[in-house]
Amino acid sequence: MKRSFIRQILESIDEETISFAGGLPDETLFPIDDLANASKKIFDNNKNFQYAVSNGIASLREKIASFYNDEGFETNPNNILITTGSQQALFIIAKYFENKSIVVEKPSYLGAVNIFKMNSLDMKAVTLEYDGIHTDEFEEVYKDVKLSYLIPDFQNPKGSLYSQEKRDKIANIVKKHGGYIIEDAPYSELFYDKKSNNISSQIPDNSFHLGSFSKTLSPAFRIGWVRANEEVINDLILIKETIDLHSSGVSQYILNEYLKEKEKYKKHLDSLRVKYKEKMEVFAEALDKYLPQFEYEKPKGGMFIYGRLPNIDTYELVFEALKKKVVYVPGSEFYITRQKCDEIRFNFTHSSKEEVVIGIKRLKELIENR
Ligand SMILES: Cc1ncc(COP(=O)(O)O)c(C=O)c1O
Repeated sequence: MKRSFIRQILESIDEETISFAGGLPDETLFPIDDLANASKKIFDNNKNFQYAVSNGIASLREKIASFYNDEGFETNPNNILITTGSQQALFIIAKYFENKSIVVEKPSYLGAVNIFKMNSLDMKAVTLEYDGIHTDEFEEVYKDVKLSYLIPDFQNPKGSLYSQEKRDKIANIVKKHGGYIIEDAPYSELFYDKKSNNISSQIPDNSFHLGSFSKTLSPAFRIGWVRANEEVINDLILIKETIDLHSSGVSQYILNEYLKEKEKYKKHLDSLRVKYKEKMEVFAEALDKYLPQFEYEKPKGGMFIYGRLPNIDTYELVFEALKKKVVYVPGSEFYITRQKCDEIRFNFTHSSKEEVVIGIKRLKELIENR
């Protein structure tokens, strides 16, 4: 198993290095004052520091269920399991399907790929296009495998967004053949235009819909969730109990307190979308100006710009880039079997405008002088 290149890089970079590597949100946009106010209330009651229930505190599960109901996806709190980040949700589900086969996107999220390997899931990779997975290829594999892991909204690493047509096709394929999709959606609120319909709502009993507060509020709480049918949730709770008994009660209480003012959260999301769009435009402008040979499509949300530097081995290049104090994730890291690859994933949400320009210029000079 490959150790996460991203984690390795994050550990080895110094303060002068400009990193476009991690999938980090912009910490200057965390709603710290509101979170501090919510925390004060929680710290006033000793009971909030006791052990908590395994499936997650009821009032937070109610609020998460209400997000789905507001979108017309009928959900009750017993359809929700709170997890320690959506990363843990992936682990629990992979354990549930241990030793099975699973269709994944090519490329896919390295953190999930590693979990699937650890739980001996046999991955079948299907080409991902900018408007979603190739649906004919998908059906060909899915009809036998009957399990798939998809990231339809602003995929990690590709930034791609599934079209409504492909969403409908996938839902119909699942209805026809049975089985399950795991729909991982940590970036779904970070859209510029409008929120897409999730696939899971068309197949509520044949899906796991994963959410997270990591990209919208802060990853430090380590709170995510799974929405699935109640029977399946009960099985997942048994697995979760063996891992950590429950996710941090304090984190859950603070988020629950913060979310009591739904309008405030909505406003926060609105402003986050505007600011991240601005950052994406700044990054794209720097790429177009200094690295015009980089081929990519502008994403419609999320945190990543993905593309190609034709004929350059971007895995080799990244070690040279590190010496020039700029870093990104080479595309090779997102494929199940390492292959020579000219692709790159850039994170555009974390660096400041000034850092983006300096970092891209460093890459330009490096490539010119090779
Ligand atoms: C696609 C995807 N799924 C899951 C995660 C894990 O997120 P968390 O555990 O912070 O909710 C990430 C993190 O970057 C991600 O990109």
